[in-house]
Amino acid sequence: MRSAAVVIPKGFWLLVLALLFYPAVIFSAETVTDEETGLIVAPGFEQVKKTCTVCHSAMLITQNKADRDGWLEMIRWMQSKQGLQELEPDVENRILDYLSSNYGPTEASRRPPLDVTFPE
Ligand code: HEC
Repeated sequence: MRSAAVVIPKGFWLLVLALLFYPAVIFSAETVTDEETGLIVAPGFEQVKKTCTVCHSAMLITQNKADRDGWLEMIRWMQSKQGLQELEPDVENRILDYLSSNYGPTEASRRPPLDVTFPE
């Protein structure tokens, strides 16, 4: 008969360590920001810097969070009320990709669940 003692598999401690240090990993995976604008340097950054900091400081962007639709709404609002020019579809898409992935709603930008298989 198998003993009732709980056997802790070696992998368990690795998992504990991984979870303990996970926050450190997140914060050390440095987010580089542009010195001039404070915008996160990521794909699409140059486009946003070029297109979106002409009329106002990038702070309006970095202080905002929205999903793709939310950002599109702000762009449409600026186009109808604030004289923002029409953007080429591919330019607009690149900007929306950048904004929604770097300045998305907090919930959506949380990490996906860990893919962990527990020992049987
Ligand atoms: C033609 C000028 C112009 C350009 C270019 C422009 N904006 Fe704006 N934007 C404005 C004005 C004007 C405001 C209102 C500023 C205020 O309320 O002080 C504004 C406000 C904002 C706000 C704040 C909206 C809110 O609800 O508080 C955000 C975010 C924003 N812009 C993002 C962007 C992004 C992203 C781009 C690039 C696609 C961009 N802007 C390009 C004129 C512009």
